[in-house]
Amino acid sequence: VQRDSKYAQLSEDHVKYFQELLGSESAVVDGVSKDATEDIEPFNSDWMRKYRGHTKLVLKPQTKEEVSKILKYCNDNMLAVVPQGGNTGLVGGSVPVFDEIVINLQKMNKIRSFDDVSGVLVADAGVILEVADNFLAEHNAIFPLDLGAKGSCQIGGNVSTNAGGLRLLRYGSLHGNVLGIEAVLPDGRIIEDLSKLRKNNTGYDLKQLFIGGEGTIGIITGVSILCPQRSPAVNVAYFALESYEQVQKAFKEAKGQLSEILSAFELMDGRTQRIVHDVTGKKMPLDGDHPFYVLIETSGSNADHDSEKLQAFLEHVMETEIVSDGVLAQDQTQIQELWSCREGVTECLGHWGGTYKYDLSIPIAEMYQVVNDLRDRLTEAGLLGKEDSPVIDVVGYGHMGDANIHLNIPVRGYDKKIEKLLEPWVFEWVQKRNGSISAEHGLGISKKPFIGYSRTETMLGLMRQIKDTYDPNGIMNPYKYI
Ligand code: FAD
Ligand code: MLT
Ligand code: ZN
Repeated sequence: VQRDSKYAQLSEDHVKYFQELLGSESAVVDGVSKDATEDIEPFNSDWMRKYRGHTKLVLKPQTKEEVSKILKYCNDNMLAVVPQGGNTGLVGGSVPVFDEIVINLQKMNKIRSFDDVSGVLVADAGVILEVADNFLAEHNAIFPLDLGAKGSCQIGGNVSTNAGGLRLLRYGSLHGNVLGIEAVLPDGRIIEDLSKLRKNNTGYDLKQLFIGGEGTIGIITGVSILCPQRSPAVNVAYFALESYEQVQKAFKEAKGQLSEILSAFELMDGRTQRIVHDVTGKKMPLDGDHPFYVLIETSGSNADHDSEKLQAFLEHVMETEIVSDGVLAQDQTQIQELWSCREGVTECLGHWGGTYKYDLSIPIAEMYQVVNDLRDRLTEAGLLGKEDSPVIDVVGYGHMGDANIHLNIPVRGYDKKIEKLLEPWVFEWVQKRNGSISAEHGLGISKKPFIGYSRTETMLGLMRQIKDTYDPNGIMNPYKYI
């Protein structure tokens, strides 16, 4: 990709405008005027250390009016921008490609209201997910989304990526839970739609375009979201299984027997768990090496009722040898320890230098086969099974309950030769099974060339028309998927 010359270069006059608008603390500059007010590097590099931009200006607005003035000025002056939340995205969407101005939402971090009857939370886009969830816990409610990056990702970023995470199985997607948004368009217009209504059939549901829009049509500044009641009884169990067949049987049994209290069914293959063990040095919950592990969580309103159900389920899967070993958390600390075996995966995989990540939706019956097939392919290429190979391993884990597998290839460093063996092979594999090349992480820059594996030309044409309607000058997050 080349920098598009239609975008203006940042000048001292531009910087002066932003510093007057926001104050120099909220308009962080490096490389334009003399003083660097803050280290700008973290805003330029993504979480995976795979993508690096060269912005010289980071803006941190505190109100929607400031966002509106910033975008209008950028639009009038053809300055390209990148909206940024917690910068935990995994597809390179949250950092500039060249010198686009970063608009970071971290200073818009207020919870605006919570109604404990309806469960509707209204909050600024920059509220950190964990902060929102802790706030809700005080009101016996829960954020309908949970994920490993909760300590740094922002709810505006979650909505913009339509993040899925660990609770989707129970609470559904943000397309259903987000009731309203407040967003600023590139020309400065503000969409005020912080609706608290569950039902509102009055024409096109425009907010849906922002959910998963990845910052390409506007900036979300506020969100209203339906938050369920927090379950007083939470149980977590962790199992070992000997085959993917058994995993599928366990899933079917869990749905049948635990039904309404099942709140997570997460899969990790043995190699994923070995890596977590090797990198963290922590003792694993179960002895021995098994090809598959599953973490099950139940959440319900009656501890006795849940324990009885869970006990019956455990006895059944052990007796019928669906599961070969298992452990049930006895207290909150053990619940957290078991969850850390799952939530710690992403970070551990990056230990050697990088990870090629493929976030795939595939019909459940075939879901794990992609891992085996890719292992065969890399073994044939002589890249697996050697001590000093640049490829550490090929692993699979993910949200079994949502037919979403994360195929990951931890490597010693990003390398075009390895990449060529993976892409487009993985995408072709997925297309043949009518799967999706991005289940929950989005497209950003990393999946941009491959959108055609999951969307038709007609759909892509409509997407481009939408983009042009909302952002005719193309200043919003350019060079990314659209
Ligand atoms: P960023 O990374 O800052 O931005 C992501 C995208 O949204 C970018 O395109 C950006 O331009 C845009 N954007 C951000 N804020 C706004 C805004 N206010 N308005 C408009 N556009 C905006 N994802 C899952 O789906 N499920 C998981 O289980 C999961 N687990 C993860 C675990 C770890 C350890 C990590 C590092 C990431 C994980 N992710 C997961 C990736 C996930 O997309 C993000 O963690 C999260 O949703 C992104 O939020 P963020 O605030 O960091 O957004
Ligand atoms: C997860 O499920 O852990 C996240 O989506 C992040 C990842 O894919 O590693
Ligand atoms: Zn995931």
